[in-house]
Amino acid sequence: MKLILLGPPGAGKGTQAKILTDRYNIPQISTGDILRAAVKDKTAMGIKAKEFMDSGALVPDEVVVGIVSDRLLDPDCTAGFILDGFPRTVPQAEALAATLSRMGRDLDKVISLEVDPEALVERLTGRRTCRECGAGYHISFDPPQKDGVCNLCGGELFHRDDDNEETIRKRLDVYLQQTAPLISFYERAGILSSLDGLRSIAEVEQEIQHLLQA
Ligand code: AP5
Ligand code: MG
Ligand code: ZN
Repeated sequence: MKLILLGPPGAGKGTQAKILTDRYNIPQISTGDILRAAVKDKTAMGIKAKEFMDSGALVPDEVVVGIVSDRLLDPDCTAGFILDGFPRTVPQAEALAATLSRMGRDLDKVISLEVDPEALVERLTGRRTCRECGAGYHISFDPPQKDGVCNLCGGELFHRDDDNEETIRKRLDVYLQQTAPLISFYERAGILSSLDGLRSIAEVEQEIQHLLQA
C-alpha cells in the first residue's frame, strides 16, 4: 500500500501513520521527523532547516524532495509506505510523481484529514512526544499513564519547539496557502479520499481502515 496522509498541522497524520505502520508493517515516512532528527544531530541540513521550522515556514522543496527520493529506495519501502507531511507543495507532489514513475510505482490513495483550524491549536499545545521512541500523546485526549513518561519505553516526553500558539498560527497559514491546493491536485488524479479528522483517534482509525478496504 502506497499512501499519503494529507492534512493541516495537528490533523492526526503522525498519530494515524503510526497505527497504520503497525497494522500493515510498512514504514511511516515523516519529513518532519527526519528533519527534527537532523536538527538534533546538528547535520548541515539540520542547521539549515532549523530556522525555517522554528518560524513555521516550509523547508525548501529541493531539500525535502531529496530526503524522500532517497528514503523511497530503502528496501523496507518495497511493500509500501505511508507519507506523512510530504508532499506539502505542488512542486513536491510533481517531484514525487516523477520519482515514483522512475521506480515504476504509483500511489494508491491520498487521505485528507479535515479539521477545523481552531481545534488544532489545542491539539498541538497539548501534544507530547517521546524523546526515545517517537510515540505521540496528548495531555487531555491521549494522556500517558504517568505524567511526562512514555507508556511504551519509559522515555521522557517533550513538547515540540514549534508547538507554541504563534508558530502554530503561522504553520496553519502556510498550510492553507501552500499545501491545501494539493487536495484538488489529488482529486483531479482520482485518488483522494477526505474524512472528518475531528472525531476521536479510534473513529478516524476505523474510517481510514474502511477507506483502505474499499
Ligand atoms: P511536521 O512535523 O510534518 O508537522 P505538521 O505538518 O505541522 O504536522 P504535525 O506533526 O504538527 O501534526 P500531525 O498531523 O502529525 O498531528 P499528530 O498526529 O501529531 O512538520 C514540521 C515542520 O517541518 C514544518 O513546519 C516544516 O518547517 C518542516 N517540514 C516537514 N515536512 C516538510 C515538507 N514536506 N516540506 C517542507 N517543509 C517540511 O496529532 C497532534 C496531537 O493531537 C497529538 O497530541 C495527538 O495525540 C492528538 N490527536 C491526534 N488525532 C486526534 C484525534 N482524532 N482526536 C484528538 N486528538 C488527536
Ligand atoms: Mg506529525
Ligand atoms: Zn517511548
